[in-house]
Amino acid sequence: MGPVLGVETSCDETSAAIVDASGLRSLAILSQDAHAAYGGVVPEIAARAHVRAIDAIVGHALDEAGLGLDEIEGIGVTAGPGLVGALLVGVNWAKALAFGRALPLLGVHHMEGHLFATSLEHPRAVPPFVSLLVSGGHTLLVEARAWGEYRLLGATRDDAAGEAFDKVARRLGLGYPGGPAIQRAAESGAPGRFTLPRPMLGSTDVPGDPAWFDMSFSGLKTAAALLADELEREGRLEPSVPDLAAEFQDAVVDVLVEKTLRGVEWTGVDTVVLGGGVARNASLRERLAKRLGAGRALYAPSPRLATDNAAMIAAVARHRLGNGERSSWSLNADPTLVFPGLAPSDAGAAAAASQAC
Ligand code: KG4
Ligand code: ZN
Repeated sequence: MGPVLGVETSCDETSAAIVDASGLRSLAILSQDAHAAYGGVVPEIAARAHVRAIDAIVGHALDEAGLGLDEIEGIGVTAGPGLVGALLVGVNWAKALAFGRALPLLGVHHMEGHLFATSLEHPRAVPPFVSLLVSGGHTLLVEARAWGEYRLLGATRDDAAGEAFDKVARRLGLGYPGGPAIQRAAESGAPGRFTLPRPMLGSTDVPGDPAWFDMSFSGLKTAAALLADELEREGRLEPSVPDLAAEFQDAVVDVLVEKTLRGVEWTGVDTVVLGGGVARNASLRERLAKRLGAGRALYAPSPRLATDNAAMIAAVARHRLGNGERSSWSLNADPTLVFPGLAPSDAGAAAAASQAC
């Protein structure tokens, strides 16, 4: 299979990329800044911005790769999960291009993209591995036995880790996106000066029980907000922000690290691959690497491949198209698309854990 074009428009990044046998040839990403004023992604604004940007973004990806459209041999596009209006832009654009040029088309699951992203930079970030996928809309702990063959170990039962970062940052007046802002604020604070819960670390003693792997961040988010309310009433919220940010980050990282370690011990797999925007978090990377120790490997994507990008979509598409898979012309955007390659019992849990974007 020759060069494959990937297109990603599931949330607030318009992105196109080209992957070929040599790996990542080009990647163009436009991060929409119009949402910052609202403290979160506004679906209608996202969809309209994708329509305006997509032609130019694909043009950038082709130029950077030094390729013409006639050299592209397949197209992959994020079909879900995500914001339906945003997804529709990419899906219809990719369908039209593939149909017009008689190219094979593949609809890609956004989170399988995050699972593939690190392999574009680390040749050893390939199955078998345990993956912690942590983004604004999802928190999944997945065992990848082979590409396309997955077992869902655990997922958040409510908010995604990234969403909790975003909401707490907003309450603390740190702006959007919240993850990087909390990380920055936490650098001058100390965890432990305040106390926040570590949800679902003690909910069962039975290894392998769903509660052993599952996570929950909604209560932690509320606890942080209530603490902020109390500090505000006492007139000392502002000077407390770094300590509160540090404690909140520490609580999220404690949970993510412990659950990932459980996944590693339970499966006996000795490689961990991080994916999703929260994988940029320095404390998560450092503490996970430390807990894994010298005998196990941790691979994390670089910042541009951690957050939403089309390179990861092109990587999945190139792999699956190469195996002969095709989507039909009836491919549609599916905001609750189920993670592929799961056993049926896992698929229900994965669908339940799927949120907006
Ligand atoms: O994967 P992503 O780009 O988009 C989704 O598919 O949701 O992830 C975005 C999320 C946001 O919630 C953002 O706050 C979070 O990733 N994030 C971080 C950091 N950088 C981005 N969270 C914690 N620490 C960071 N350094
Ligand atoms: Zn994502």
